[in-house]
Amino acid sequence: MKQPLEIAPAQGKLGILLVGLGAVSTTTIAGVIAIRKGLAKPIGSLTQMGTIRLGKRADGRSPKISEFVPLADLNDIVFGGWDIFEEDCYAAACTAGVLERQLLDSIRPELEAIKPMSAVFDQRYVKRLSGPNVKKGKNKKDLADQLIADIRAFKAQHNCARLVMVWAGSTEVFMKEGPVHQSLASFEKGLELGDDTIPSSMVYAYAALMEGIPFANAAPNLTADIPAMLELAAKTKAPICGNDMKTGQTLIKTIIAPGLKARLIGVKGWYSTNILGNRDGEVLDDPESFKTKEESKKSALDYIFQPHLYPDLYKDISHVVRINYYPPRGDNKEGWDNIDIVGWLGYPMQLKINFLCRDSILAAPIVLDSALFLDLAKRAGRGGIQEWLSFYYKAPMHAKDLYPEHDLFIQLMKLKNTLRHLMGEEMVTHLVEDYD
Ligand SMILES: NC(=O)c1ccc[n+]([C@@H]2O[C@H](COP(=O)([O-])OP(=O)(O)OC[C@H]3O[C@@H](n4cnc5c(N)ncnc54)[C@H](O)[C@@H]3O)[C@@H](O)[C@H]2O)c1
Repeated sequence: MKQPLEIAPAQGKLGILLVGLGAVSTTTIAGVIAIRKGLAKPIGSLTQMGTIRLGKRADGRSPKISEFVPLADLNDIVFGGWDIFEEDCYAAACTAGVLERQLLDSIRPELEAIKPMSAVFDQRYVKRLSGPNVKKGKNKKDLADQLIADIRAFKAQHNCARLVMVWAGSTEVFMKEGPVHQSLASFEKGLELGDDTIPSSMVYAYAALMEGIPFANAAPNLTADIPAMLELAAKTKAPICGNDMKTGQTLIKTIIAPGLKARLIGVKGWYSTNILGNRDGEVLDDPESFKTKEESKKSALDYIFQPHLYPDLYKDISHVVRINYYPPRGDNKEGWDNIDIVGWLGYPMQLKINFLCRDSILAAPIVLDSALFLDLAKRAGRGGIQEWLSFYYKAPMHAKDLYPEHDLFIQLMKLKNTLRHLMGEEMVTHLVEDYD
C-alpha cells in the first residue's frame, strides 16, 4: 500500500451555502434534515450509499465510501443561502412543490429557521425573474464585498469550521468568455466598473473563491471556469466543479450512449424533447437562458461518440434538443428520446425512451455529494478544477487543453480512483492476468 495523502480531519461544522433557495436547494436541505432524523433514505447519493472496492476481487474489501474517506457527517452540516425572494425554506419548499406536505410539516421548524440572505441579482441575466430581496451597491465590487460579509457572518453565527458554496440559482443568459474574464486583475477592474460581462453568478463565485471556499456550479451558466476564477482558485487553493448537474435526460443519454458505442452500433440521429413546469422551466422558456442550457446539453454526445475516430458510425449525427415549459407538470419532467440507430450492414433500428422523472429528486444527491467531496478536496489541499467530479455534471469543467470526459462509467472510475489515490490504495485496473 502507498502512503495516503495528508487530509485534515472533518472536524466541526460544515456550512453549505446555496445560491438560490428554489426547488433543487430546498429538496436538498429538506432531504438532509429528513435523512438525519431517519425519516427517509439518501437514495442516489454516492457519499451516503456508495461502496468502493479495494485491492483484488478475492480480497473481499468493499467499504462504504463514507467509511473509507473522511467526509463531513450529515449531522455536522448547516445550511444557509441567498434568494431574491424572502420566503423561508419551508415556504420555498411548498412553492417548489417537489416534496409532500406531510414530510415538510414534520421538519417545519428546521426549514423555517433557514431564511434567505438578500441576493446579488440583475434581471439582465435572468429575464423571466424579479424579486424584492436584492442587495444594492455602488458597483459589483461593493456587492462582492457584501457577499463576503454575509459569508463571514454566517460562519461566525453558526460556528462553522468550513464552508462550501453551490450555485443553484436560475440559469443565466448565454455568455462567452470575454476580455474582462482573462485575468484576475482585469476581472477585479471589471467589478469596479460594473462590467456587463460579469453576471451575478460570477460575483458569488468571486466572493467564495476570495475566501478560499470551494465552489460548485450546479447550473450551465458561465461562472467559475474563466481564467480569472481559475487564477483566483489557484491562489486561494479553492476547489471548484460544475457545470450543470447531470440529472434527467442527459443522465440517461450518458448511460445509453457509451453502451451503443461499446458495441459499435451506429447512430444517425438523436431527438430529445422535454416538458417541465417548474420555475426552472419558466426561466428556460426565455431563448437566451435556453441557449445556455442547449449548449450544455448538446456537447455530451460528440465527446462520447468521438466521430473523428468512428466516422462511419457517428459522423454528422442529427442531434436535436427541445425543452418546453408546460406548467401542469410542475417539477415532474417528462422526456422523450428517439434514437435512430444502425446495425450490421447498415440496417436501421429505432430506440425510444420515455422518462418520467423528478428533476429535483435527481438533483439533490448531486448537490450533497458535490459539497461533501469539494470539502474533502479542500482538506486534502487540492485547489482548482476537480475533474474527478465530472461524474455529476453535464458540461464538466476540464483542463483547457483536454477534452471533457462525458462517459458516465469512465467518470465513475475516475472518481473512485481519485478516492483510492487520496487514501494511498492501489488503482483497480481490471487486468485479467492476475485476476484483478
Ligand atoms: N433540477 C435539475 O435536475 C437540474 C439539473 C441541472 C441543472 N439545474 C439548474 O439548477 C438551477 C436551480 O434549479 P431549480 O429547479 O432549483 O430552479 P428554481 O427556479 O426552483 O430555483 C432557482 C432559485 O434561484 C433564485 N435565484 C436566481 N438568481 C439568483 C441570484 N442571483 N441570487 C440568489 N438567488 C437567485 C430564484 O429566485 C429561485 O428561487 C437552475 O439553473 C437549473 O437549470 C437543475
